[in-house]
Amino acid sequence: MIKIEHLTKNFNKQVVTNDLNLEIPGGKITCIIGRSGEGKSVLLKQIIGLIKPTSGHIYIDGIDITQLSSTEHEKVYEKCGYVFQFAALLDSLTIFENVGISLLENGVPENKARPIVIKKLTEVNLTEDILDKYPSELSGGMRKRVGLARTLIRDPKIILYDEPTTGLDPITSRVVHELMASMQERLKLTSIVISHDLEIFKYVDYIALLHEGKIRYFGEAKTIWESDNPYIYQFIRGLSEGPIQTESLK
Ligand SMILES: Nc1ncnc2c1ncn2[C@@H]1O[C@H](COP(=O)(O)OP(=O)(O)O)[C@@H](O)[C@H]1O
Ligand SMILES: [Mg+2]
Repeated sequence: MIKIEHLTKNFNKQVVTNDLNLEIPGGKITCIIGRSGEGKSVLLKQIIGLIKPTSGHIYIDGIDITQLSSTEHEKVYEKCGYVFQFAALLDSLTIFENVGISLLENGVPENKARPIVIKKLTEVNLTEDILDKYPSELSGGMRKRVGLARTLIRDPKIILYDEPTTGLDPITSRVVHELMASMQERLKLTSIVISHDLEIFKYVDYIALLHEGKIRYFGEAKTIWESDNPYIYQFIRGLSEGPIQTESLK
C-alpha cells in the first residue's frame, strides 16, 4: 500500500501537487487521470523518488520514503521494486539481451540469466523461441510484452505506467491494457497507471482524478459512470466529442 500525505511540490512559484492526499490500495490497479499538465507525471516521479517533494510524506509499506537518504532509498526500492513505463527496446540487441539487460550489466552470467529471462517472457505470454530475435522481427504488441518482461526482471512489487498507450493504435492499446490486467491477475502487484484513454477504465480497479494539485475524486472504476462527481463529469466530457457514449465503455 502507498499512502501519500500532504504532498506539495513547487517548481519556483508554480505549485504542482498541493497538499495532496491519496491512498493507493495494495495489490490493485489505480489509474490516475487528469488533463495534460496537471502534474500526473510529477506525482508519479515523487512516488518513485525521482523528484523530491517540497513537503509532505509518501509511505511505501509503512516506510516514509521522503525521509530516506539515497542509499536507504535504494534499499526500499530493491525490496519494493520499481518500474517505469514501456520504454523503447534497443534495436541492436536481441530479445534475450533486451529483457536481461539489467542482469547482464550486473555481471550475471548468460547461462544464469537465460532461465530468468524465459520465466519473465512466460509471465507476459511469450515463449522462448523469440529469445534470439531482434525487436524489428516482432509485432508492436509483442514488443510491448517484451518491454514489460524487461520491467518484471527485478520482481517488482509496485509497477508504474506513465501513459502506456499514448501514441499507440487502438489494437496495440488493447494489447497493452489486457497485458496489464492479466499480469495483475497473476502477480497481484500494486499498480499505478496514468492514462488519458477511457478504454482503460475497464481494466483498472480504482480511479483517482488529479486537478489543481489535489485528488478530487477517488473511487472504484466500475462505478465511475454512475458518479455525479463534477470533476469526473467534466473530465470525461472534455475527452469525448459530442454526446457522451458511456454504454460502449461499460
Ligand atoms: N522538472 C521540472 N521542472 C519544472 N517544472 C516542471 C518539471 N516537471 C514538470 N514540471 C511542470 O509541472 C507541471 C506538471 O507537469 P506533468 O506532471 O508533466 O503533467 P502531466 O503529466 O499531468 O501532463 C507542468 O506545468 C510542468 O511544466
Ligand atoms: Mg505526464
